[in-house]
Amino acid sequence: ADHVGILAAEVYFPNTMVRHEDLEKHDGVPSGKYTVGLGQQGLAFCGDREDPVSMALTVCKRLLEKHNVSPMEVGRLEVGTESSVDSSKSIKTYLMMMFEEAGNTDIEGVDCVQACYGGTAAVLSAANWVESRAWDGRFAVVVMTDISLYPAGPARPTSGAGAVALLIGPDAPLALERGLSATHMAHAYDFYKPSGLYPAVDGPLSVYCYLNTMDLLLARYAAKFEKRMGRAFCLDSDADHALFHAPYNKLVQKAFARLMYHDMCKHGEVPEALSKWSLRDGSHPRPPMAMPADLEKALVAHVFQTYDRKVRPSTCVARQCGNMYTASIWSGIPQLIETTGAALEGRRVLMYSYGSGISASMFSLVGRRPEAPRFALSRLQAMSDLAMRLARRVPKSPEDFEQAIQLAEQRYCAGNYKPELPAIEELEPGTFYLVEVDARYRRIYARK
Ligand code: ACO
Repeated sequence: ADHVGILAAEVYFPNTMVRHEDLEKHDGVPSGKYTVGLGQQGLAFCGDREDPVSMALTVCKRLLEKHNVSPMEVGRLEVGTESSVDSSKSIKTYLMMMFEEAGNTDIEGVDCVQACYGGTAAVLSAANWVESRAWDGRFAVVVMTDISLYPAGPARPTSGAGAVALLIGPDAPLALERGLSATHMAHAYDFYKPSGLYPAVDGPLSVYCYLNTMDLLLARYAAKFEKRMGRAFCLDSDADHALFHAPYNKLVQKAFARLMYHDMCKHGEVPEALSKWSLRDGSHPRPPMAMPADLEKALVAHVFQTYDRKVRPSTCVARQCGNMYTASIWSGIPQLIETTGAALEGRRVLMYSYGSGISASMFSLVGRRPEAPRFALSRLQAMSDLAMRLARRVPKSPEDFEQAIQLAEQRYCAGNYKPELPAIEELEPGTFYLVEVDARYRRIYARK
């Protein structure tokens, strides 16, 4: 199969959210600490009525219904997550309820677990399946679903929740550029979940690993690009858009500025305003922590207009919903489709997917007009209601957020309860929710 990639994309975030402006006041931190310092606007959270399984059910059903895909047309279904509710039973098996009902149980794939990278691993393997001799002509679906929740402290404002579903197949409007994918896998203890509800996280180390890995991958991606295209890769002219794993928006701003700086150094185009920091041999300060803070700041300001054009159009969901772990980078795709539509045709989208631990890839998608109009970008754009759904949410108070956290602590690994929050009336029509966890820890779901 040719031009394998993303045919359609949907994102789901819980209706319950708290604004960072309100959190700053509530937490007693200086004004601007979360909104400017972290670059975040809002954080989505779940009561005990929704969980990673219900979010996966909601977004998967939404993808099938909205794009008129019959469950019979799907031959592979994989889930990327790092917040599974069971150490043995995959979230994929819960999703099978909607396929089983339609009479289709012949569906390969299970869950992919590796921090925020599980979704990307699933996308790459789904694309490999469609391109392989094992492919039987049906679609692949990849669902990413996560709740990110940190203990009280500096990491808590980077919590979030959400899910993304992607339809993968040939003749895609956003096709993967095969052969250009660069990967880095290594061992680090920057973020992990050895026990309990909360991750063990070394914030500064995780930021270091994120940026350092990105540096490595840019060089690797550029080398593959050069070999394949017979010319040097130039971020500014060769990548029309760039999507990043987005733990918080400030890191995305810094990451993009850093990539642009590498580009300027490589092509000998460091502008006068930044030249006092640049090294004569064209190399850049390494490791990332050694990059002078004032250079980082000057860089972010310097590339602001380019950021506005190439990055901002895909950052709204992450800024308003927080870290969605596996779904984070992929939440940018439906948004890019909504903001840019058919203008994406002929454009390259550079992707940087990072998972702590470490696993990461840099790869690219190319926008194109598919032969079959079913998944044309203009059509996908016309059907999108993402900005409207984001705007429709009514903010909750920081006290409500705290109450939800207390519930999450109580419910962690618990059985024999009926969820309390939020009221079913508060859920959007079509949302799946948890009805009960019985005494044998079996989870029962229903749809509003
Ligand atoms: N107004 C404006 N900016 C402010 C204010 C203010 N009043 N107060 C502080 N700031 C700025 C700081 O100057 C700093 O800016 P800089 O990054 O440009 O230097 C920024 O806010 C962050 O403040 P810090 O004190 O440096 O860091 P903080 O203690 O807030 O912690 C951290 C940030 C480490 C990211 C924390 O939130 C965390 O641990 N998060 C979870 C881990 C994470 O997300 N890692 C990312 C990659 S891995 C992953 O996805 C899990």
